[in-house]
Amino acid sequence: MRTWLTERFGLSMPVVAAPMAGISTGRLAAAVSAAGGLGMLGAGPTSTPDPFRDQCAVAREAGRFGVGLMAWALAQDDAMVDLVVAEGPALVSVSYGPYERWIAPLQDAGIVVATQVGTLQEARDAEHAGVDVLVARGGEGGGHGRADVATLPLLQSVLDVVQLPVLGVGGIGTARGLAAVLAAGSAGAWVGTAFLACPEHATSEAARERLFAAKDTGTAYGRVFGVAQRLAWPPEYGGAGPAQPVSRPLGRARRRARRRRPCVSAAGDGSPARRL
Ligand SMILES: Cc1cc2nc3c(=O)[nH]c(=O)nc-3n(C[C@H](O)[C@H](O)[C@H](O)COP(=O)(O)O)c2cc1C
Repeated sequence: MRTWLTERFGLSMPVVAAPMAGISTGRLAAAVSAAGGLGMLGAGPTSTPDPFRDQCAVAREAGRFGVGLMAWALAQDDAMVDLVVAEGPALVSVSYGPYERWIAPLQDAGIVVATQVGTLQEARDAEHAGVDVLVARGGEGGGHGRADVATLPLLQSVLDVVQLPVLGVGGIGTARGLAAVLAAGSAGAWVGTAFLACPEHATSEAARERLFAAKDTGTAYGRVFGVAQRLAWPPEYGGAGPAQPVSRPLGRARRRARRRRPCVSAAGDGSPARRL
């Protein structure tokens, strides 16, 4: 099948393997790209140059690859941008914070620029700012992001108002999910959690087992994940992850999270996740 995504990157399948800093590996990115999708690497505040370059070299073996950057981390230290440009990815997403200033330098380097949006207003703003493709990430998405609007409602409203290509994101893990976002009019799916199960990823064996054992009600959403990692995530981007018994360190993180500004997204808005 052909969509903007397959045509732009020469793919045989409209699927992007989402960037996951600390977890996505060059091996997985290469495997996805070799299978006809687009594999991505994640770079975050704890990424360091040499291991990142090594992962890019592995990812590049399959040809094209993408990189995901965190805008809030670049606001503290932007050294990663030059490093990424030098590695020549085909696609770079800059998400979660003030991404606008990175659009032109990345595009000038011949890179397609994406950002993840979680509301209709964010989609409008990103189109206005000049990104090439919108990643419409609904509240069902794994990792960090807004939980304000669910995937299908977000995708439908964004597709109605923007002219840019849009990828559907959040809770897509099967061919049925991919078919749904394509039928809605997106150019493809951006998939994160489902790829955590792949042996090529740096997911620990224990985490993989928890993932396979998780029930449909087993996701929690809140600030505790970022606080537990002692990372300065902006409060509007909570994290989604496996609901788990509260260990002592997690309990401490939860109390720290409660003392800070609460996460702005509301439960009961279409997001099935429990709040932490
Ligand atoms: C463990 C994990 C780590 C993630 N790390 C990043 C990241 O470093 N950069 C980024 O832009 N998105 C990151 N994401 C979010 C994904 O890009 C994407 O929005 C999300 O995985 C989509 O939802 P899904 O997991 O339900 O497919 C991460 C997601 C997960 C599950």
